[in-house]
Amino acid sequence: MKLYEICFSPTGGTKKAADILCDALDKESRFVDLTDSGQDFSALVPEEDALAVIAVPSYGGRVPAVAVQRLSRIRAKGAKGILMCVYGNRAYEDTLVELQDAAEQAGFRVVGAVAAVAEHSIARQFAAGRPDEQDREQLCRFAEEIRAKLDRGDMSVPQIPGNRPYKKSGSAGMVPKPTKDCVDCGVCAEKCPVQAIDARDPKKVDAKACISCMRCVQVCPHDARKVNPVMMAAVNAMLKKVCSQRKKCELYL
Ligand SMILES: Cc1cc2nc3c(=O)[nH]c(=O)nc-3n(C[C@H](O)[C@H](O)[C@H](O)COP(=O)(O)O)c2cc1C
Ligand code: SF4
Ligand code: SF4
Repeated sequence: MKLYEICFSPTGGTKKAADILCDALDKESRFVDLTDSGQDFSALVPEEDALAVIAVPSYGGRVPAVAVQRLSRIRAKGAKGILMCVYGNRAYEDTLVELQDAAEQAGFRVVGAVAAVAEHSIARQFAAGRPDEQDREQLCRFAEEIRAKLDRGDMSVPQIPGNRPYKKSGSAGMVPKPTKDCVDCGVCAEKCPVQAIDARDPKKVDAKACISCMRCVQVCPHDARKVNPVMMAAVNAMLKKVCSQRKKCELYL
């Protein structure tokens, strides 16, 4: 069975968790990068007998809107889908149900869902080092359970936690800005998933288009893109209360 790994992972945490699950399901998979603004996703037509792991981060308990838009262009025609939401140890709220709706819209038959934890991409001290060995063991066990369900020919739709209508989506409002160390190399503009940074003048950023994904901060070779420190301190204080207790990965079959 052909396996697709369809992933929106601006800073790599979602991909780390999805890689573990996909490797445990099958060593060979085709990677589809939903952060690539230049790709024509309507050209992707997974075969009916294919399986796809569809992985997104949780942003404010929702799927990033751009990931929904890009996913909805895929024409799956009945391929099986395993949903995966990856969150920073706070909560994922309506992310999985929204992802279920988007995947079904794209023509996938949803047969399973996983919630996993990765480092918080805004405040990396929360869930630091995750997914870790404990997560890996859990995700590998989930892969066995998923495989067993598929081997039985069981195509039942899992009961997935979350509410419809989804919670209101709010922007994180954190737009990283260049510091004096910026050398205008353009790496951040090239890698921004929504082209919010001006390629000709990377000091300019379209704050309305920015989804606060933090990729530009991560990829800058000069450590020259930062979020306002006052805002960062406020977010750290808010997350400290809700992110500290370790949350486990979850499987819905
Ligand atoms: C804009 C934004 C909003 C986020 N909202 C949440 C959230 O509501 N709950 C949570 O636990 N983590 C939240 N996170 C953390 C991410 O879900 C988590 O770090 C994820 O692994 C990031 O994926 P990536 O590394 O593939 O970019 C948020 C991160 C960003 C950038
Ligand atoms: S990657 Fe860094 S140095 Fe290069 S343009 Fe962007 S902020 Fe400036
Ligand atoms: S400008 Fe905004 S959307 Fe673009 S990479 Fe940076 S944080 Fe992400």
